[in-house]
Order: sequence, then structure tokens, then C-alpha cells
Amino acid sequence: MATLADYPHLASGKVRDLYEVDDETLLLVASDRISAYDHVLSTPIPDKGRVLTALSVFWFGLLGSRPGVSSSDIPAPPVAHHLVASRDERIPDEVRGRALLVRRLEMIPVECVARGYLAGSGTVDYRRDGAVCGVPLPDGLTEASMLPAPIFTPATKAELGEHDENVTFAAVVDQLGADLAGALRDTTLSIYARGAAYAASRGIILADTKLEFGLDRSGTLVLGDEVLTPDSSRFWPADGYAPGRPQPSFDKQFVRDWLTSPESGWDRHGDAPPPPLPERVVAATRERYIEAYTRLTGQAWPPAL
Ligand SMILES: Nc1ncnc2c1ncn2[C@@H]1O[C@H](COP(=O)(O)OP(=O)(O)O)[C@@H](O)[C@H]1O
Ligand SMILES: [Mg+2]
Repeated sequence: MATLADYPHLASGKVRDLYEVDDETLLLVASDRISAYDHVLSTPIPDKGRVLTALSVFWFGLLGSRPGVSSSDIPAPPVAHHLVASRDERIPDEVRGRALLVRRLEMIPVECVARGYLAGSGTVDYRRDGAVCGVPLPDGLTEASMLPAPIFTPATKAELGEHDENVTFAAVVDQLGADLAGALRDTTLSIYARGAAYAASRGIILADTKLEFGLDRSGTLVLGDEVLTPDSSRFWPADGYAPGRPQPSFDKQFVRDWLTSPESGWDRHGDAPPPPLPERVVAATRERYIEAYTRLTGQAWPPAL
């Protein structure tokens, strides 16, 4: 039976740790760490790593299969993705349920964001420029407005602790060439459309999502990282949706709200790290992550291993 110590540790991001299994295969381990405002918080959220992992497995399965004619009218081809296995003897017991065996990719350093609604940095950019990442939008939109059509709004991937920066599609073309940039945009919008259509069938609005892609050895574009999780996406309950105000969501909004409340005593713009989260914020956030899983998949928590 494999243990984590058998594998060389390659890298750690804010949430995930990467280990090398062999030349072609990595172990992607999701921790219970949570980040907010570009800080990794000192308080973990129990089960978060398992939720992110189980939800990614669910979506890889859905996106990797050909959409049925009845379940979707979007004629999208199956998405090539990096998932090799979520149950495998090469996955150590100590991380079972929150680790994936994945194909090693050469990651493309662009955060591929699709937005169907205005939120977050999209709202900020729109108010300043009337556009997001250089994509012009009509007048009169407000927080949480549905966009006329989903848009591709790439960002450059920042170093740990830095802010991702929105960039124009033209900047991605300059960086990667027109072919690869176009493929990223088209694949991102196609995955967003399929994810949003499925989520809608479960009563959830997929407001936006961030994808990461890489190239495999043959140069094929492959979907990597996590996919359509509360960490990478804004999910809003469809009932009660009303533009003009921030929507209650299944992501870390609860954590963000507390951190910016007087109760936390924390200054978002100062140098101090965020304080530990109170137990009730931890419990409520854990419930939100689990609810995202059960509502989207229709399956009970925890998933059978
Ligand atoms: N198939 C893959 N091959 C190589 N690297 C990958 C693969 N899938 C994901 N990654 C990388 O693993 C890391 C995941 O860790 P994460 O905590 O999400 O990082 P970040 O803080 O950058 O969001 C990211 O740097 C991501 O680009
Ligand atoms: Mg990440």
C-alpha cells in the first residue's frame, strides 16, 4: 500500500499539494485549507478537500462523456481532462477521498474564466470601463446581472499571495499565439455552457467559473486542476435570484463576510494575516460546501469510497 512519503513532493498551492507518482502521473491532494482575499487562513474547513475532490470527479465524468441529445442541446465534444483515477491502490489511505491521480501536464499560466453574470472583479471592471477584460458590455448592468452572452475573461495566474490580474483576450494571443488562445477561449466557453446547463437543471445558477488547462506530451489541450467547485466557481441558488445585490452563494462568501465585518477586527488592506475563524463560521462554511455537493450531484454526503 502506498504512503504519501513514497512520492516526491513537487509543489503546494493555496489549497492543493502535488506529488509525483511517476513520469506521467501526479497525485493532486486537496487539503482543507481555505483562502480568502489572497490569504490562506489559519483555520481549516473540515471535509472541504473531500468536497472539492468528489465534485471535480463528478464533473470530469460529466464533461468527459458525450452530452446526450436529450440532456443538452449544446453539441460539445467530450472534454479531454487529466483525471486518471480517484480510487486506486496508488492513492495512499491517508489522503483517500481527497486525492486524485492525474496526468502530468505542462500547465498554461492563464486562468481561463467564463462569466455568464456580473460579479466580483467583473463588476469592478464593468463599473470602471463598461467592459470586462476588454469585452464591451451594454449600459445599465448591475451587480449579479445576467450578461447578454457568456464571455471569456482570462486572468494571469499570480504568485502565492498576489492578486490574479484580469487581461484582455488580445494579451493572451500575444502570450500564447492565436491558435492556443482561441482554443482556450472556445473550450472554456463550451465547458461553462455545459456546466451552467447542468447546474440549472439542479436549481443552481453557475455565475462564473475558472478553469486551468495544460498540454500533454502530444501537445493536446487538456483540462486540469479542479473543475466547477465552490472554490473555482460562483454558484447561486436559482430561487431567490435577484440582480442589484450580491447573491447568497455556495462559496466562501460566508468567510469573506465575517472577515470584513467589525467582529473579526481584521483590516483587509493592512499587513496582518486574517484572524482564526470562529467555530460557527467554520461549521456554516462546511455546510455550504457540502450543500453545493449534494445539490449539484443529487447524491448524499459523504460519497461512498
Ligand atoms: N495535471 C496537472 N499537471 C501539473 N500541474 C497541475 C495539474 N493539475 C493542476 N496542477 C497545478 O496544481 C496546483 C494546484 O494547487 P492550488 O492549491 O489549486 O494552487 P493555486 O494556489 O495556484 O490555486 C496548481 O498550481 C495547478 O496549476
Ligand atoms: Mg487553484
